[in-house]
Parts: sequence; structure tokens; C-alpha cells
Amino acid sequence: MVISTGISAMSFFTPHRYISLDTLAQHHGIDPAKFSRGIGQEKIAMPGHDEDVVTLAAEAAKPIIDQFGADGIDTILFATETGIDQSKSAGIYVQRLLGLPSNLRNVELKQACYSATAALQMACAHVARKPDRKVLVIASDIARYDLDSSGEATQGASAVAMLVTANPTLLEIGTVSGLFTEDIMDFWRPNHRRTPLVDGKYSALRYLGALVESWRDYQANGGLPYDGFAQFCYHLPFSRMGEKAHLRLAKEAKAEADMQAALPGMIYNRQVGNSYTASMYLAILSTLENSESDLAGKSLGLFSYGSGATGEFFDAKVVEGYQDHLFAPRHRKILEDRTALSYDEYVALWHARNGEDGTDTPMPDEAKGRYRLASIDDNKRIYVDRTA
Ligand code: HMG
Repeated sequence: MVISTGISAMSFFTPHRYISLDTLAQHHGIDPAKFSRGIGQEKIAMPGHDEDVVTLAAEAAKPIIDQFGADGIDTILFATETGIDQSKSAGIYVQRLLGLPSNLRNVELKQACYSATAALQMACAHVARKPDRKVLVIASDIARYDLDSSGEATQGASAVAMLVTANPTLLEIGTVSGLFTEDIMDFWRPNHRRTPLVDGKYSALRYLGALVESWRDYQANGGLPYDGFAQFCYHLPFSRMGEKAHLRLAKEAKAEADMQAALPGMIYNRQVGNSYTASMYLAILSTLENSESDLAGKSLGLFSYGSGATGEFFDAKVVEGYQDHLFAPRHRKILEDRTALSYDEYVALWHARNGEDGTDTPMPDEAKGRYRLASIDDNKRIYVDRTA
């Protein structure tokens, strides 16, 4: 008997400050329409010096623990490509900040923007084998490109937390996947660099190539037909990439592309920017929380892409009563309560302190959330819970 597995709750967090792409366009003397229409983005979320993938992740996961409890969670899978340590999983800090018990396994996964999907699939396999267990999957990333580079407009930051269980109450993850991996250099970040190296146009081409190959493999494995999906969610480095993906997929499926089947998924991402591993999961939340129709019983087509490169096309069925397992009012408030940065304030934040020489580095108190990186002391990151 195949046990239904998937996601029973989902929550996101993004920092309280952003730079508007109009401000960036003005500084560079670029037509703002290049960003608003050409790449389809409005804002770039900017973390404070005392925020990183750990604090974003803890903020995202906290409402899930508060509402649904920690009972049964035996694993934390932390997906990121903005790792803060080459050895220790960022999830271990989150486990402590959330007050979770010690009898958990905890590991960090990496493959560019793709690894949260690997984490989700592994989590589903685990709870299929042990249906009384749960897995906390967290995708958390800060997308940074060099100042004045063509990638600069596609920065962003957010974390998405998911509670993965048997008999899920939000999304049933399908058992069919279409997979594709190729060894290419479209986007990569050697250990000595804070920002990635990227061949932007090539990366967009390979993204579309991986989409087609993943779709073909999905179809070969008995996946749903194109018209079996109510909505599609794509990895969104910028929302225009999702529009191009949707058109390319429809062409491959010899179907008419209905952009309304992809646009609800782009609403949050336009406001947040690329958040690498979290990006497609933010698109799922955006779809579930912004679609005008009730999606219960409907299927979502999901395309996850990580440069380097791995693609996966898979599906999720929306469960009846799904609205009760989201945090839509909280998410809207997080987005509404943000403040805009001037160009100079943005540049100051961009130069994040990282205590590279190991000397003590206290962080300015900037985060508005519950958790913050208070300092880096003797090469140790000191995270605090303001309420403790
Ligand atoms: P660019 O080269 O500066 O932009 O940066 P462009 O000149 O190609 O213009 C972009 C679009 O705006 C074009 O439309 C222009 O015509 C249009 P398109 O030809 O694409 O249809 N445009 C305008 N539209 C309206 N009014 C105007 C105007 N001017 C121009 N006045 C690029 C674009 C994507 C290269 C850059 O942003 C970049 O390098 N980004 C980073 C890489 C990236 O996001 N790649 C996406 C695929 S790879 C991926 O998704 C993985 C990733 O998330 C990493 C990971 O996996 O870890 C990146």
C-alpha cells in the first residue's frame, strides 16, 4: 500500500527592509521598465547585519511549531546555498532556537537552488517508512550578486519552512518525478567568494533546457498530462523567467499557454526577489494564498531548478481545508510592514560583516524579528532569542 505523504504546514519569512528596483534603476540610469517588465521584479529583500539564513529559517519555522507542535519531528533538513559554515549544519542552531528536543537528526543539503526539493523528497520517503514521524524541511537563502553586475537586480532573501508528514493536510506530493542533471557552469560560487560567478544568458537557456528534459522524463514515468494541472509553480530567479518557462512548457506539451495558471505563483517573489532554495516554495505559497479559485483537490505542476545543474518536475495535490495550514494573514503582514531603503543604505547592508578574521564582531541590532545574530565571537556565531 502506498502511503500518502507531503506537506502539512508551510510558512515563510523575509527581512523587513528592501530596495525598490526603481531606486536601483534610478541610480544606474536604467529605464525602470527593464526591471518591472523586462525581468518582472519590484523589490529586493535585504537582511540586516544581524540576520542570516539561520535567523530567517527560525522565523519561518516558529509559527509552525507554535501552531502544530513539535511532536513526532525526528529530522530537520536544512536546504541552503548561503551556508554559514563548511562543517556544521545551520539547522542545528535553528533546532536550539526553536527549543526542539535533542533526539533529532539534523543535516544541511546543497545543490544550488534545487536542494530543498531533494530535502522534500527525502522527507516524504522517510515518513512513508515511519508514518508516525515528521520532518521539518527548511529552505533559507540570501541571493547576492556583485554591485553593478547584471545579476544585481535579481537579489533577494527569504526562508520557507515545511512540516512533512504522512497523510498530509496541505499538499500531497506525487510519487512521479521527472529528473535531469548535467555538469555545466552556468552559476557557481567557489569557496573563496561571497558572490557567485554567473553566465546569465546561458543560465536562462539551461534552465529552459532542464525544464524540457525534466518534463519529458516526468511524462515517460507516467506523470499527469499538461491539462491535469490547475496551476504551475516554477523556480523564480525573477518572475519573467517563470513566464518564459510557462510558455516553453506549453509549447513542449503542444498546449495553449494560459498565463493565469502561473501568475498567482509570482506575486510574492516579485516582492522578495530570488531566494534560491526557497524560491519555488515561496511560489507555492504565493499560489495557494493568492489564487482566486479554491484549489482543493486540484494539482500543481512544480519545477525546481538548481544551477550546475539539476532540474526536477513533480506534482502536488492540494488537500481539502488547506487554508487552515497556511499563515496567509501573517505572510501579507510581513510583506506590508516592510520599509524601503535608499541606495546608500542598501550598499551599506550589502557589505555584510562576516567576522572573517575571527576577531570579535558585535552586530548592530537591526532585525525586527524574534531571533538575531548578536555577534561572531572567536569564530563562533552567537544567536539569540530576544524573548529568552
Ligand atoms: P541583463 O542581461 O542585464 O538583461 O540581465 P537583458 O538585457 O537581457 O534584459 C532583460 C529583459 O529585459 C530582456 O527581455 C530585455 O528585452 C528586457 P528578454 O529578451 O529576456 O525577453 N528589457 C526591457 N523591457 C522593458 N523595458 C525596457 C527594457 N530593457 C530591457 N526598457 C540576466 C538579465 C538574467 C542575465 C541577469 O539578471 C542575470 O545574470 N541574473 C542572474 C542569473 C539568473 O537569474 N539566471 C536565471 C536562470 S538560472 C537559475 O534560475 C538559477 C539561479 O537561481 C541560481 C541557483 O540555482 O542557485 C540563478
